[in-house]
Amino acid sequence: MATTQGSVHDDVNPQGKASRPLAVYGIAAIAALGGLLFGYDTGVISGAELFLKKDFALNSFTEELAVSSILIGTIIGAAIGGRLSDGIGRKKSLIIMAIIFAVGAILTSLTPNLTLFVACRILVGFAVGVASFVAPMYIAEMAPPKLRGGLVTFNQLALTIGIAVSYWIDLAFANANMGWRPMFAVAAVPGLGLLIGMLFLSETPRWLAGRNRWDEAEKALNYLSPEDKERELKSIHSAVTSGSPPSIRSFIRSGLSIALVVGVGLALFQQFVGINTVIYYAPTIFGYAGFKSASGAILATSVVGVVNVLGTIVAILLLDRVGRRPLLLVGSVGMAVALVAMGIIFMVGANNAGVLILIALLVYIVSFAIGMGPVFWLLSSELFPTRLRGTGGSISTVANWAGNLLISITFLSLIDLIGKPFTFWLYALLAVASFIFCWFLVPETNGRNLENIEAYWKNGRKWENT
Ligand code: BGC
Repeated sequence: MATTQGSVHDDVNPQGKASRPLAVYGIAAIAALGGLLFGYDTGVISGAELFLKKDFALNSFTEELAVSSILIGTIIGAAIGGRLSDGIGRKKSLIIMAIIFAVGAILTSLTPNLTLFVACRILVGFAVGVASFVAPMYIAEMAPPKLRGGLVTFNQLALTIGIAVSYWIDLAFANANMGWRPMFAVAAVPGLGLLIGMLFLSETPRWLAGRNRWDEAEKALNYLSPEDKERELKSIHSAVTSGSPPSIRSFIRSGLSIALVVGVGLALFQQFVGINTVIYYAPTIFGYAGFKSASGAILATSVVGVVNVLGTIVAILLLDRVGRRPLLLVGSVGMAVALVAMGIIFMVGANNAGVLILIALLVYIVSFAIGMGPVFWLLSSELFPTRLRGTGGSISTVANWAGNLLISITFLSLIDLIGKPFTFWLYALLAVASFIFCWFLVPETNGRNLENIEAYWKNGRKWENT
């Protein structure tokens, strides 16, 4: 395996076979730069918006276009990314996206007009869309089963760090009066990091096996998790040698349509609980709640960004211990409670609404960060069998970005139409629906190997004994 080999410390397990947790963590950290860029490139717009508005003399329509153009790109990226990563491989896909991230960052910062700005944001969005599921999928396929949950969630952690950093960088450049251009240019740095890092990593064993490159797959597994090698090889073999080429029909034919329903349902619920009304519009929400100065609202937003990161760290610690389902369920309840409280605070118009809204938003963001945030991305890389993983991940990622676009472009109009309390109560209702959906349909994948999860769907949602 052409890789990080030798560059990190190796442990020796009691059977005398080398296992390399540090190498696996290093690999996950590099691929998770894809997540960092996803977070940075989506979060950066919130602070850049005011400056863009002035420079390009935006009206409300063109402002909405400037904000949501990236989401158009992400939908295209997620739609094409499945075939791309199945065709040329996970590694090459991430390398190409890294180049687009770096070049796109520089080009965006140089755009002279709105048309080119929108074009560059769509381009960067394309890379975000592809990376948003190829990065977690790459990590899932490299990780030994017992570390998979925590490792894949590295990507979500990097994502939330990307959002938080984008808020702070926006604030710094705004305070220094340097405008929006450097805010976008900064993303070239992690883009280059991803490019250089990925050049040193190998392709995943599962993708190699799917291409009949068994020797390389075995070598990669031997390096990544020698103690699980034989078992993993056997289960990868039975998974990749059975079944038809991927398409939506393949899910139905293979008895996996319910897996697709779960993937797409989680994707939509992750967005329908309204997370990006907070991520993209938090300063506006704080403005509604009576924060007088823009800097106070932006500071409060930055606190939300940091708490999002902290909640995700808690999730990483818990995912492989308590499992995915308890976190999803507790998180959905927490979000519903916080959203109901926000509606009530806006309804009664409390004097100190600002502080109360901040508290409610923090409860909301922690609940999202321990549950839906990481668990959706983790499950979308675990739910589908190897040969359908690219297609399944791609379909649920497209659904996620389409849900994101729908919520982001309707939030302000909903508030105009039904008022703040009912808008937040609507999201609360959706959080309750998310709880019910997870309760009845989402399986506990903790500690299961990826091929074992496939058997679960095929056995009519029953686990085989392993
Ligand atoms: C979601 C994003 C969201 C982010 C917030 C991700 O899991 O997919 O839409 O902005 O979490 O942390």
